[in-house]
Amino acid sequence: MRPKVIAGNWKMNKDADGSVELINGLITRSGEIPNGVTVVLCPPFTSLAIAQRLLDGVPMALGGQNMHYEDEGAFTGEISAGMLKSVGCTFVIIGHSERRQIFGETNDLVNKKVKKALSAGLRPIICVGETLEERERGVTEQVINVQLKGALQDVPENEVSRAIIAYEPVWAIGTGKNATPDQAADVHKYIRKILGQFYSWNIAEKTIIQYGGSVKPDNARGLLAKADIDGALVGGACLKPESFMEIVKASAS
Ligand code: 13P
Repeated sequence: MRPKVIAGNWKMNKDADGSVELINGLITRSGEIPNGVTVVLCPPFTSLAIAQRLLDGVPMALGGQNMHYEDEGAFTGEISAGMLKSVGCTFVIIGHSERRQIFGETNDLVNKKVKKALSAGLRPIICVGETLEERERGVTEQVINVQLKGALQDVPENEVSRAIIAYEPVWAIGTGKNATPDQAADVHKYIRKILGQFYSWNIAEKTIIQYGGSVKPDNARGLLAKADIDGALVGGACLKPESFMEIVKASAS
């Protein structure tokens, strides 16, 4: 049985005060986290240090939303894996479609970041997903294949199962239009098949594959009930303690 992992990607939301309020709301409800469910909060960089202090002793992990692949140096505006670790991060989102589309991140860049995250001891949450145009053209599997192969190039077998794959169809992100449980499950099954081909069936079986894209309290149960859907990467609904915790609880049943 793979454990469920529910991560909240806050994106560019919540200043310092807003972060304290949201985290305190989550801490109040932390007793509701079901056994065997890992909860990961990914606030903006500016709120990680305060989150680390507030979450002391609370069973919720922290993650960054992005990182650079170098350790340090003249990279204005960037954050390293070591810096994320120094404020308590154990996860990092890599290759989110917003990074790919708005900031021009390529599969090659995603690959460099994934390798650095793994070697630094962080668990990368690697995002893949097709656009609406690609889905309508019937090339979803090809797109996922290229993104996954690109992200995992030269990632050794003994490290890969620490990575999480997040299937986030671009057309479902922030649109209120989630993939149906069957649509998502088909792609998750395909991702597991690909992992089996790249590595081994043992690795494929161990790897956590999350779904992301308009996950809400009212659709989470149906999505998370599917055999190959091992968690969720939640955007909008993670900005309210009640809705995020409803999704966390839905992952257990
Ligand atoms: P929404 O849940 O707001 O659609 O965002 C999903 C997402 O991009 C999480 O990384």
